[in-house]
Amino acid sequence: MNYFSISRIISQIIFLSTHLMKAFFAHHKVDNPVNKRKKIKHRRDCAIIITHFRRLSMKKILILNGSFRKGNTDKTLVPVREALSEKETEIREFMIRDLIDTRCYGCALAITKGKEFCPTYETEKELLRQLEWCDALIIASPVYNGRETFIIKAMFDKFAFLVHRPRFFNKKAMVIVTRGNMFSAAIKYISKTLSQWGFHVTVKCGEPELPVLKNHLVPKTVQKIRNKTNRFYHSLDSAGKTPGIGDKLWFEVWKLNAEMGEKGNKTDFNYWKENGWFESDYYYDTRINPVSRLISSILRPVIKGQMKKTFKGY
Ligand SMILES: Cc1cc2nc3c(=O)[nH]c(=O)nc-3n(C[C@H](O)[C@H](O)[C@H](O)COP(=O)(O)O)c2cc1C
Repeated sequence: MNYFSISRIISQIIFLSTHLMKAFFAHHKVDNPVNKRKKIKHRRDCAIIITHFRRLSMKKILILNGSFRKGNTDKTLVPVREALSEKETEIREFMIRDLIDTRCYGCALAITKGKEFCPTYETEKELLRQLEWCDALIIASPVYNGRETFIIKAMFDKFAFLVHRPRFFNKKAMVIVTRGNMFSAAIKYISKTLSQWGFHVTVKCGEPELPVLKNHLVPKTVQKIRNKTNRFYHSLDSAGKTPGIGDKLWFEVWKLNAEMGEKGNKTDFNYWKENGWFESDYYYDTRINPVSRLISSILRPVIKGQMKKTFKGY
């Protein structure tokens, strides 16, 4: 639990207790049936409390469409929206193309100095704000030449600092790639990058549909997408990911990278230090399998040696 979630909980408690007290006192004052205004106020305060409780349980879902046009990927999202509209959700949806400048100038300033130093930060800060806002992310891309779109790749390049300094550990993600049947590389790459940012990718959806260039989805595919969306929604309250050996090893790689940053990339070093990750086994409290722990402690010096060679001139 970080500073923001604690302050959010405290402000919710203050908000709710104020309205509970108001409702309580108003209720006592309406014992006198002639006091109609007080009665209305009492009802209004009760309604505020009920709405607020509903909002608290609502999942905030961000849907990002990585296509350049509102075409087939947008249509693929129809059953997703339909399934979610039956649940307690607050949905925000964007075309990624509207929130980023797809040119990366290669200065790496977002990585080395901080996100605000990216020359196009002003364009992308809203997208970052939306990622911070959501409880869960649904990202969809068409498959072009066996991969995700250049828009999604551009977003990953722009936000490469999130791989160095991950943060979305309490959030879940669903990856959708449409629409032929050569989408596994795109799904794999998108899922891997989101995991590196901290997301727990609980559902991957690449429903093969061979009449790829037709403008509609067959009913069977629509049903499958709805089912996967329902599964994703139910995964939102599940526990965080238990890291496997691969996750643990990547954690050690990025820890070494940040450690070396003490003399170079101070931004990574400071971020890791603030989060206490130099002293911890993983990004968050979790059970690390003893075999993973053993293997990673054996491999750590080997990885360090390799990285030292790579770091020359970095
Ligand atoms: C340039 C281009 C390359 C494509 N490459 C593939 C591909 O490698 N595999 C595949 O199954 N479909 C491929 N398709 C089909 C698209 O994935 C499919 O039409 C998709 O639904 C388009 O989504 P959109 O309308 O949101 O852009 C390609 C389409 C285009 C325009």
